[in-house]
Amino acid sequence: MYTAPSMPYTLFLTASFAIQALAQSTNLTFSFSPATLDTCAANGSAEAITFTTSSVPPTYQCFNIEDLFASSNTSSSYGSRTSQQSTITYEEVSWRIFNADTYSTQTNYSRLRYQQQNITSPSQGEDAARMLEVFSGRDCHQTGSSNTTVYPILGWTCQSSASGDCYEAPYNIMSFQIGSAAAINSAAKKCWVASTGAAAEKLGSGRTATNVGAVAILVAGLLSR
Ligand SMILES: *[C@@H]1O[C@H](CO)[C@@H](O)[C@H](O)[C@H]1NC(C)=O
Ligand SMILES: *[C@@H]1O[C@H](CO)[C@@H](O)[C@H](O)[C@H]1NC(C)=O
Ligand SMILES: *[C@@H]1O[C@H](CO)[C@@H](O)[C@H](O)[C@H]1NC(C)=O
Ligand SMILES: *[C@@H]1O[C@H](CO)[C@@H](O)[C@H](O)[C@H]1NC(C)=O
Ligand SMILES: *[C@@H]1O[C@H](CO)[C@@H](O)[C@H](O)[C@H]1NC(C)=O
Ligand SMILES: *[C@@H]1O[C@H](CO)[C@@H](O)[C@H](O)[C@H]1NC(C)=O
Repeated sequence: MYTAPSMPYTLFLTASFAIQALAQSTNLTFSFSPATLDTCAANGSAEAITFTTSSVPPTYQCFNIEDLFASSNTSSSYGSRTSQQSTITYEEVSWRIFNADTYSTQTNYSRLRYQQQNITSPSQGEDAARMLEVFSGRDCHQTGSSNTTVYPILGWTCQSSASGDCYEAPYNIMSFQIGSAAAINSAAKKCWVASTGAAAEKLGSGRTATNVGAVAILVAGLLSR
């Protein structure tokens, strides 16, 4: 007839499930889809190659889309990177990718669906935990800009809407970089939406990022080094 412990036990279980659910939905998730579509491919669509991470990498981590997605022919796979500091090995970033089997080197992946929220205080346009930047060249280098064409580095450090927001870059996105947003957001005093740093602006889905121009290159170039 001793039943007292059952209640704290139940509470403990509830709390640990809640923590698990919170940890998962704070992921930074983004997908690239073809320029030929009218908008970003829907979440879960096979046309969208997708990357998700629960990590907040302490140092910026660059990925070439081709290396990441062409090396996997499965619909979903996991990966991670570790670093070594003297004798300590630690995980920089872990991720999961989807739809690598639909990746094609012939496709122009200019559309980006970006989703990142803080589950304890979700608010579009407020600071997010991680930075994402996208580039027109491999190895997180920007190529293709000339005195007549500007290919801005596009970066995000703000929270998105709950279901993610759709952007279009004026180029085929070849590589991207992720890392902690803390330094950027505290230095700039406002977070980035497609590198414009216009944290408080209301930005709807489908906003094009093509016209942010040379200023964005400078802002992103300075703040990301
Ligand atoms: C969050 O990212 C991790 C990889 O870091 C992945 O294993 C997990 O499935 C993702 N969770 C969600 C809800 O996408
Ligand atoms: C995936 O690729 C490996 C090696 O490239 C190959 O052995 C395997 O059959 C492929 N799997 C599918 C489902 O295509
Ligand atoms: C989420 O927001 C809360 C309240 O502003 C903050 O304390 C916390 O650090 C944020 N979490 C992340 C992962 O940014
Ligand atoms: C733009 O670039 C072209 C070729 O690279 C050069 O001939 C031209 O003088 C440049 N124009 C300006 C205004 O810099
Ligand atoms: C995207 O789809 C996956 C799998 O169907 C789901 O777990 C996830 O919550 C969805 N994300 C959004 C933002 O709707
Ligand atoms: C890729 O698509 C973008 C946006 O539609 C376009 O501006 C760019 O010229 C395209 N690039 C290539 C290599 O087709």
